[in-house]
Amino acid sequence: MTKITVLPHPTLCPQGLTFEAEAGESICNALLYHDVFIEHACEQSCACTTCHVVVRKGFNSLEEATEDEEDLLDKAWGLEPQSRLSCQALVADEELVVEIPKYTINHAREENH
Ligand code: FES
Repeated sequence: MTKITVLPHPTLCPQGLTFEAEAGESICNALLYHDVFIEHACEQSCACTTCHVVVRKGFNSLEEATEDEEDLLDKAWGLEPQSRLSCQALVADEELVVEIPKYTINHAREENH
């Protein structure tokens, strides 16, 4: 099992959370399983950006993103060098610290209107 720490997010996880996940499970599923209801608008098929997370620790333990994932990430709100689509990033054997960005691209649009 691999330890995952979720940094506090104002609505999804106000207190932050630490839990253990199986290696090979997607970060998205691990979050959902622990009641952190991150958006996953395309049902985890690598076709949106709503499941975007920033991996603050353990980023290099994850398998590299595919080109499709990288292309989508380019459109994500708040992109950072350690950004991943959580439905595509599989937990490995190194502890992870994950930050859920404040907005998804949908929310960012709503804020502007
Ligand atoms: S849920 Fe759409 S890319 Fe992850």
